[in-house]
Amino acid sequence: MNKLKVGVLASGRGSNFKAIVQKVDSAEVKVLIVDNPGAKAIEIAKEFNIPYEVVDRKKFSNKLNFEKEITNILDSYKVELIALAGFMRILSPGFVEHFKWKIMNIHPSLLPSFPGLNAQKQALDYGVRVSGCTVHFVDAGTDTGPIILQAVVPVLDDDSPETLASRILKEEHKIYPFAISLFAQNRLVIDGRKVKIKDI
Ligand code: GRF
Repeated sequence: MNKLKVGVLASGRGSNFKAIVQKVDSAEVKVLIVDNPGAKAIEIAKEFNIPYEVVDRKKFSNKLNFEKEITNILDSYKVELIALAGFMRILSPGFVEHFKWKIMNIHPSLLPSFPGLNAQKQALDYGVRVSGCTVHFVDAGTDTGPIILQAVVPVLDDDSPETLASRILKEEHKIYPFAISLFAQNRLVIDGRKVKIKDI
């Protein structure tokens, strides 16, 4: 079986990138693209012998050219799915349209609650009893695209943003690889805002 060709975009630690590399049999990460040379995710790419490219936003005069470079790299690897894994930039509507319904993201809250930055702190400040994570397709909004999978964790009275984040992260490492496997098996059907999961 031909494996789905995946490109991962990350800015930092890369633990979701690692989970995808280790857990998805039906897909192969062809390239890691990071937007800063200090991203720890590069070490993981080296460990697993995955090609990586640093596309440093500071070296581009505008966002369009920065995204053009990313697009060229993804196209050169014939990537069929882009997985955002802690990529700390909003992609422009043009980029999202170019790769329509071929971009996934993982967010550390139960969307549509607490989109954007510091989702775990937002959840604690609000006082919710449960939180979790969401894998969704990316549309032109911020964390607004059709939801593929979610996982729930309890919020404990003595949680800090860090303890909640680490409880959520364990679930991220399960549902992100699973969502990518489902995509690779052509089992995700987008129907308006809803994503249906087909049986095999
Ligand atoms: C995760 O919490 C993810 O939900 C969010 O950014 C963080 C990335 O962590 N989008 P890592 O770099 O995958 O370890």
